[in-house]
Amino acid sequence: MNQLAAYLKQANHTVVFTGAGMSTESGIPDFRSAKGIWKEKDPMQLASTYALMRNRDEFFAFYQKRIKGLISCQPHRGHKLLAEWERDGLIHSIITQNVDGFHQRAGSQHVIELHGTIARLHCIDCGQAYDLTKYIEENGSVCTCGGFIRPNVVLFGESLPHDAVDQAELESSQADLFIVLGSSLQVSPANYFPIEAKRNGAKLVIVNMEPTDYDEYADLVIHDRKIGEVLAEVNQLLI
Ligand code: APR
Ligand code: ZN
Repeated sequence: MNQLAAYLKQANHTVVFTGAGMSTESGIPDFRSAKGIWKEKDPMQLASTYALMRNRDEFFAFYQKRIKGLISCQPHRGHKLLAEWERDGLIHSIITQNVDGFHQRAGSQHVIELHGTIARLHCIDCGQAYDLTKYIEENGSVCTCGGFIRPNVVLFGESLPHDAVDQAELESSQADLFIVLGSSLQVSPANYFPIEAKRNGAKLVIVNMEPTDYDEYADLVIHDRKIGEVLAEVNQLLI
C-alpha cells in the first residue's frame, strides 16, 4: 500500500481504470470470477446484437434484472474515495468498463464510460430517451411509438462510443500513473488502454483479486485484497 500511496503523491496525471470488480462490494456481481454472471449465462444470448434482434424477451429480462439490482444498490466507500481523490486533484479521470453509473453517483466528474450505461435507455425505432426506471414498469420495453426500448449499453457486436475511445486514448497518452481496479482485462479493445499508458511511460498498477494476463507489465500488482479495503488503507497513508 505504501508503494501505491507514494505513486499517487508523486504522479501529475493519474488515471484510474475500473472493471466489474469495482462494484462487487456494492452487491453488483462481476462477470468472470467464480460467481460471475458469465459463469452461468451466455453473453451472446443476452448482451449482444443477436439477443437484441432475435432474443428480445430474454434480453429485456436480463437487463431488467440488472437494473433492479442497480436501483437497490449503492456506490461503496471505494467509489466515494475516488471521487474525493478527484476533488483533491490526486486523480485526473476514471476510464470505466462498468455500466452502473456508480462513479458518477459517488460524485466523480470526469468519468469515461467505454461500454455505455444501463442507467439510461432509448427506443431503437424513434430514439426517444428514457430513464432506467422505465424498464421496471409493466411492458417496460415498449415505447410510446410501439418500438423496442433498450439500455444505452455497448452490446457484444457493437463498437465502443467514438468520443469515449478518443477521451480514453488521450487520458492513456497523458497518464504518468495508470491504476487498474477490478478487471480481468480479458475484453478488448478496453484492455488496450493499460498497455497504451504503459507504452507512453506511465507506471502501471493492477489491483485485482485474481491474477490477470497483464500482471507481468505492471510496476505494482495487488492481489487477494478487496478494492474498498485497498483504497481505504491507501487513503490513510495519504493524509
Ligand atoms: N476487489 C478486487 N478485485 C475484485 C473484487 C473486489 N472486491 N471483486 C471482483 N474482483 C475481480 C475479479 O477477481 C475479476 O478478476 O474483478 C475482476 C472482474 O473481471 P470481470 O468479471 O471479467 O469484469 P470486467 O473485467 O469488468 O469485464 C469487462 O466484459 O462482459 C463484459 O462488458 C462487460 O465491461 C465488462 C467487460
Ligand atoms: Zn419509440
